[in-house]
Amino acid sequence: MIAEARTYILSRTPLRPLIGVVLGSGLGAFAAELTERVEIPYTEVPGWPAATAVGHAGKLIFGKLDGLEVVVMAGRAHLYEGYRPERVVYGVRVLRSVGVRALVMTNAAGGINLEYERGGLVLIADHINLLGSNPLCGPNDEELGPCFPDMSDAYSREFRRIARGVATDLFIHLPEGVYAAMLGPSYETPAEIRYLRAIGADLVGMSTVPEVIAANHMGMKVLAISCVTNMAAGVFPQKLSHEEVLETGEMVADMLVRFLKALLPRLV
Ligand code: HPA
Repeated sequence: MIAEARTYILSRTPLRPLIGVVLGSGLGAFAAELTERVEIPYTEVPGWPAATAVGHAGKLIFGKLDGLEVVVMAGRAHLYEGYRPERVVYGVRVLRSVGVRALVMTNAAGGINLEYERGGLVLIADHINLLGSNPLCGPNDEELGPCFPDMSDAYSREFRRIARGVATDLFIHLPEGVYAAMLGPSYETPAEIRYLRAIGADLVGMSTVPEVIAANHMGMKVLAISCVTNMAAGVFPQKLSHEEVLETGEMVADMLVRFLKALLPRLV
C-alpha cells in the first residue's frame, strides 16, 4: 500500500522535499505560508486514514518556503480515533518513501511542569510511551528498519541544539521537556497528572509518540514541538476543553509560524 501511495503522490507533484512537518490540533496556519502549493486530500491517497478529529484538516500540502521544498501533513490519525497503531504511522512511512528524511512534529499538549504557561512552546527532549501500544509490534518489515531500533536520540540532539539557537535569535522562550503520551480521548484526571509529574513528565498529549517511533525505526531525524494549549488537569481549579486547546493553538499560531520559517532551512 505504501508503494501505491508513493506512486500516487509522486505523480501529483514535481516537488521532492527532504523535510516534512506534521501540524497538530489548531496549529494549521503554517501551511498557508507555502508557495507553489499542491494540496492532496488524504482521501485521495491510497491507504491513508482520514483525520476525524475537529481542528485537523486532513490533507498533504507540498510547497516551498522561501525556495525550500517542504511537505506538510495538516491533520493526523490518533489512536483514540480507533485506528490501529500501524495505521497511525502510515503517513510518516509514506513521507519517508517519497524521500523525506527529517520530520518536524507539532502538537497540542497539556502543561504538567508548573514553570510552563498556557500558550508557550516547549521542545520535546524525550518521551514516555503510556499508550499501551507500539506501531512496530508484529512482524518487522526489514525494508523499513531494524526489529529493535534504538531510541536514545529519538528527538535529535543536533536538531534540538539548532532549534534552541533559532528560538534565542527570535526571542522565543523554548524550554525542553519530556512528553508523556496517553491514549485519550478523555483528558487525564488530576491524580493521573500527579502520577505523570512523579515519573518525570513535563507535558501530556495524545499523539506524536507512534509517529516518532516509526520515524526513528526508518532512520529519520526528528524534532518535536509542543504548544502548551492548557495547563494539565488539576493544575488550576477549572475544566479542560477541546475548545480551549483549539483557541490557544490559534493564539500561538503566529509565533509557531515565525519559528518554523526560521528553523526549517537550518535543518537540511
Ligand atoms: N491532555 C492530553 N492531551 C492534550 C492536552 C491535555 O491536557 N491538551 C492538549 N492535548
